[in-house]
Amino acid sequence: MTLVVGLNGSPRRNGNSATLLDQALRAAEASGAQAVRLDLAFMDISPCKACEDCFADGECVIRDDMDRVYQLLEEADAVIVASPIYFSGMSSCAKLAVDRCQALWARRKVLKRPRKPGAGAIILTAAQPNAKFDNAVSELRAFLIGIGIEPGEVLKVAGADSSSYAANHPGVLAQARELGSRLLSSLSGP
Ligand SMILES: Cc1cc2nc3c(=O)[nH]c(=O)nc-3n(C[C@H](O)[C@H](O)[C@H](O)COP(=O)(O)O)c2cc1C
Repeated sequence: MTLVVGLNGSPRRNGNSATLLDQALRAAEASGAQAVRLDLAFMDISPCKACEDCFADGECVIRDDMDRVYQLLEEADAVIVASPIYFSGMSSCAKLAVDRCQALWARRKVLKRPRKPGAGAIILTAAQPNAKFDNAVSELRAFLIGIGIEPGEVLKVAGADSSSYAANHPGVLAQARELGSRLLSSLSGP
């Protein structure tokens, strides 16, 4: 079965990122996929130590909840990363997990161990109406490419100044569902 893994980079379990990620994952499930959401803020994830031991075997020396993240990201047919914008970038809990994926980057780029084809999407929310998304998009695209996932659609939601903004805007919810459906369609080719 097709597996879609959603990474929620917000410390709000029911905030904008989580709400939109859920919509996208539910749409993927409606298309026949299995969906798993990981709330990174509530997982035990230490920072990358930059020891470079993963360059030798693709394995991280740290044992924590990233073990589950690595396994799911490697099994995933599609990955959706959702994060609030914090100081013009992704959230800190998203960045912790992203940096720890240096081990998956090492498998791809250092050890030349390709993974099966995978498709990715990004969901970003920010409070300011004219919020800056470029940094987070650039970093999360690099993350997806680094772990062997082809980055695709990006949903940017500006003006989300309360945690219930997305939930109260049906048009935005629909955009997230469409992102999830299109992501699934992209897996079966043109
Ligand atoms: C530490 C912190 C930094 C933030 N920095 C920005 C920012 O640079 N630009 C912006 O538009 N919103 C910023 N925000 C607002 C959040 O991006 C916004 O409220 C977002 O919708 C929250 O998403 P969530 O409900 O998924 O947590 C910041 C919020 C926090 C807590």
